[in-house]
Amino acid sequence: MDKKKVYSGIRATGRLHLGNYFGAVKGMLQLQDKYDCVFSVVDLHAITTPYDPNTLKQNVRDVILDYLAAGLDPEKCLIEIQSSVPEHTELAYLLSTIYPVSRLEDLPTYKDKKVQYPKYINMGLLFYPVLMAADILLYKAEFVPVGIDQEPHLEVTREIARKFNQMFGQTFPEPQRFKSDGEYVPSLTGEGKMSKTIEGSFILLTDDLATIKYRLAAVPTDSGKLGGEVPKTGGIATLFSLLRLFERDDLYKKYEQDYKEGNIKYSEMKKEIADVIFNTLKPIQQKRAKLEDSFDLNEMIEKHTQICREVANQTLTQVKQEMGLI
Ligand code: TYM
Repeated sequence: MDKKKVYSGIRATGRLHLGNYFGAVKGMLQLQDKYDCVFSVVDLHAITTPYDPNTLKQNVRDVILDYLAAGLDPEKCLIEIQSSVPEHTELAYLLSTIYPVSRLEDLPTYKDKKVQYPKYINMGLLFYPVLMAADILLYKAEFVPVGIDQEPHLEVTREIARKFNQMFGQTFPEPQRFKSDGEYVPSLTGEGKMSKTIEGSFILLTDDLATIKYRLAAVPTDSGKLGGEVPKTGGIATLFSLLRLFERDDLYKKYEQDYKEGNIKYSEMKKEIADVIFNTLKPIQQKRAKLEDSFDLNEMIEKHTQICREVANQTLTQVKQEMGLI
C-alpha cells in the first residue's frame, strides 16, 4: 500500500532560524522516517516580497544546506526547488479559477505584508495561498509540518480541495497541519514571533556562540526584583520559552524559582541559554561545513527534481482531465 504523503516548504529568504527549525524542520525530521515526503525551497513565494535577484540562488542553496545539516536525509525524502517543478504554477492557476478573491484579501498574512511593504503590493502576494495550496495538493499530501502561523493558509488549501472535489470528483485529500511543540517561537524582541524579516528577532542555525550571546543580550528584561509569576509575554517570556523549546526543564525550574523570589540574574540566565542553544546547533553547523566542502547539491537536486516532476505530472494530467481541458 502507498504511504501517506507529506509536503512542506520554506521560503528562500536566507538561512534558517530557530522558528523555522522548531516550527517546521523538527516535524519534517519526524515524518521523513515514516511517510513519502517532499520538502521544498519555495523560491516563487520568496519573490512576492522585496528581494535581490543576485542573491536568490544563494538563498535557495542556503536553505537546502540547512535542511541537510539539520538532518533531512536525501535517501529518505525528496528535496525540491519549487520553480524547478513548473507543475506548481500550472496547478495553481487551475485552482485559482475556483477560489474567490475576497477570501484571499481577508487573510492575515496578506494584510500584514501590505502594511510591511506598502510599495510592494502585488498579485503574487494575493495569490500566495493559492500557490501554497497547489504546492501541497500537487503531491496529494495529507500532513504538512508547519508553524501555527500557517494555519490560515492550510484552511485555504482545505477549502480549495473540498471545492475541487465537489465540482470535479474526489481528487484531493484535505491536508492537516502536523503540529509540533515549537509551533510558535517568540521573537527575541519580546513582541510577536521570531521572523527572518525582523532584525533582532531571530537566532540563525548558523550563528556562532558569540553571535548568539550578542543577540540574547538585546532581549528586553526587567530589574529582576519584581517577584511573582513569570510573565506570559515580552522578552522574559521569550527567554523562558527558549528553555522549554530546548527541553531544559531543569534550568526552567531553577530560573522560575529565582524569578518568583525576585533575585533572578538575567545576564547569567542569558549566558546559560546561549550555551544550551549553541550546544544543540554545533553538530548542525559542523555537518553543514562538511556538506559545503564535499556534497554535490546539484546532482542531488537534479535527481530529486526528476522524481518530483513525474509525480506532479500525474496529478496535473488528472486535474486537467477532470476539468475538461484534455
Ligand atoms: P516561511 O519561510 O515564512 O516559514 C517557513 C516555516 O517556518 C515556520 N515558522 C515558524 N514556526 C514557529 N515559530 C516561528 N516564529 C516561525 N517562523 C516561521 C513557518 O510556520 C513555516 O512552517 N508559506 C510558507 C512556505 C510554503 C509552504 C508551502 C509551507 C509555501 N508553500 C507548502 C508548507 C506547504 C511559509 O510560511 O514560509
